[in-house]
Amino acid sequence: MESETLKSNLVLILDFGSQYTHLITRRIRKLSIFSLCISGTSPLKSITELNPRVIILSGGPHSVHSTDAPCFPDGFIEYVEKNGIFVLGICYGLQLIVQKLGGEVKVGEKQEYGRMEIVVESDGGLFGTKRVGDKQSVWMSHGDEVVNLPSGFLVVARSQQSAVAAIENSLRKFYGLQYHPEVTHSPEGMETLRHFLFNICGITADWKMEDVMEEEIKVIKTVVGAKDHVICALSGGVDSTVAATLVHKAIGDRLHCIFVDNGLLRFKERERVMETFESDLHLPVTCVDATEQFLSKLKGVVDPETKRKIIGKEFICIFDEFAQELELKLETKPVFLVQGTLYPDVIESCPPPGSGRSHSHTIKSHHNVGGLPKDMKLKLIEPLKLLFKDEVRELGKILNVPEAFLKRHPFPGPGLAVRVLGDVTQGNALDILRQVDEIFIQSIKEAGLYDSIWQAFAVFLPIRSVGVQGDQRTHSHVVALRAVTSQDGMTADWYNFEHKFLDDVARKICNSVRGVNRVVQDITSKPPSTIEWE
Ligand code: XMP
Repeated sequence: MESETLKSNLVLILDFGSQYTHLITRRIRKLSIFSLCISGTSPLKSITELNPRVIILSGGPHSVHSTDAPCFPDGFIEYVEKNGIFVLGICYGLQLIVQKLGGEVKVGEKQEYGRMEIVVESDGGLFGTKRVGDKQSVWMSHGDEVVNLPSGFLVVARSQQSAVAAIENSLRKFYGLQYHPEVTHSPEGMETLRHFLFNICGITADWKMEDVMEEEIKVIKTVVGAKDHVICALSGGVDSTVAATLVHKAIGDRLHCIFVDNGLLRFKERERVMETFESDLHLPVTCVDATEQFLSKLKGVVDPETKRKIIGKEFICIFDEFAQELELKLETKPVFLVQGTLYPDVIESCPPPGSGRSHSHTIKSHHNVGGLPKDMKLKLIEPLKLLFKDEVRELGKILNVPEAFLKRHPFPGPGLAVRVLGDVTQGNALDILRQVDEIFIQSIKEAGLYDSIWQAFAVFLPIRSVGVQGDQRTHSHVVALRAVTSQDGMTADWYNFEHKFLDDVARKICNSVRGVNRVVQDITSKPPSTIEWE
């Protein structure tokens, strides 16, 4: 994705810290336009190297008057004007344009937050076919206020309180919106962005996932030498699977994958996942059955974080052994490691002043690998690092990863270890949990609810309750069912099943899973709870 073809229509977002910045990138990509986001204070060289057609200055929590207000680099205005680059400022971005081009921004008396109505004040420009006097509802969020425009600028819309809501200078190709067009609370915002990009800037919609795939394959072929070998740990999740499939398409069987059965997988998960790898994706995967190795280390451990550490450490040992065996077999050291890092993990952002955070380029360590042995010195290949999750699913579809696989609910790296509360080796807890979880998930699928739920699973509680089954009193296990809706797992709400569905599932579980006589449902959101119980 580094080629000039894809970059010739690039819309670059300079991030000044708004919570909505990533949303702008996503919205623009949805218009089939390639868009990247970098820190608003990046050096000029980082901007010029990307050769953007359009630059969007994002919003941000700062005031342009504060001493540490972030700003684009020196020479930015000269660069965009010399190269005919269109600039759109959003909120803070608009105020930066005004301030830097000789206008005036005042600490606001008319602070405007939330839904507002704006009125078009000038025909033809930013609002396309809209006419003077036309109104629309938008999402405002600003404290400071533009009181004087730089010369040559025009007010295109005002808020009801008559604050400046949109400006432009079409000759110099500078535009600004005081509100957030990218959020759904600005219902006509996307139309304005679309008009700006296609009709004003003349951008063409030429960013297609097929091109992304071809481009990535080209890049991988260039980066990986003709005799180099590459390794990849597959978790059974979407990201690592799509990343491995892509690399395999580029370099064939010089890719060596490992899938570890740690004894903490779901019902028949090893068989199901291996079947997909082998039959559908033709991926060369070494499956390691390390059940005993993991469970013996977890015996008697009840603290959730200790469980996670033990699991992470075991993964590293197995991965290390795999790399060494491979080296013996191939008579050469593997050189690269594939990781399924996604764009949200690498985006540079501009944190608010005083937050103590600096711009960062963080790389997610693979949950299942839990960090890499220090002496392995593998170079990273991260073919998904410019994609969002939904884009990875789209790419997976083109790569023929089965749809059912792409839509799988997230599953934590430590697996059922965080769903059997306490000691995972107690009695036949893991087996019971697998059976209960399978009934719950299959029932959800049969009811056609799987895709409406973000994550669903069962939890084994380390308690017994009294019951009566047949004519006998029982003293058996309690299991909990958890299903949530969410966007990204950061917050979540519990899923409200119909009573009949819950009744059927509970009945099925108690009738068919030996050792369970009580089923409860978790009806807490996150916060205050987390999604997993441990
Ligand atoms: P919580 O429980 O923190 O979960 O609300 C949010 C999301 O993260 C998953 N999760 C994990 N994933 N390793 C992982 O790979 C972990 O240790 C882990 N803990 C929680 C959880 O399943 C949910 O999707």
